[in-house]
Amino acid sequence: MAFVVTENCIKCKFTDCVDVCPVDCFHEGPNFLVIDPDECIDCTLCEPECPANAIFAEDEVPEEQENFIALNAELSKIWPIITNVQDALPDADEWNGKTGKLELLEK
Ligand code: SF4
Ligand code: F3S
Repeated sequence: MAFVVTENCIKCKFTDCVDVCPVDCFHEGPNFLVIDPDECIDCTLCEPECPANAIFAEDEVPEEQENFIALNAELSKIWPIITNVQDALPDADEWNGKTGKLELLEK
C-alpha cells in the first residue's frame, strides 16, 4: 500500500508534506504533487501535515477520487522529486476546498 495525493492539492500545493517524508517520495508538477507508490513506506507522517487534507492512505481514498491512485503512480515516474518546502501557490487558500479541480491539473 501507499499514500496518495488527491484532488484538493491541485492549485494549492502547500508542500508541508515534503518536509516530513523520510524517503523523498514526493514528486512535483506545475500545480500538484504526487507520491511515488514504489517508494512510500506508509509511515503516515505526511497525512496530518497537509493543510488541504489532500493525502489519504490508498485504502481510504474517497471512492470518487480513486482515479488519483493511478495518477500518482503515473506522474511520479515523470515529474522530478521535491524535497524542500516552498511557498504555496498564489490563491492557495481560496482554492483550498474547491471541487472539480481535476480539469485544472497541469501536467
Ligand atoms: Fe512519505 Fe510517509 Fe507520506 Fe509515504 S506516508 S509519502 S513515506 S511521508
Ligand atoms: Fe499538496 Fe498538501 Fe502537500 S496541498 S503539496 S499534498 S501539503
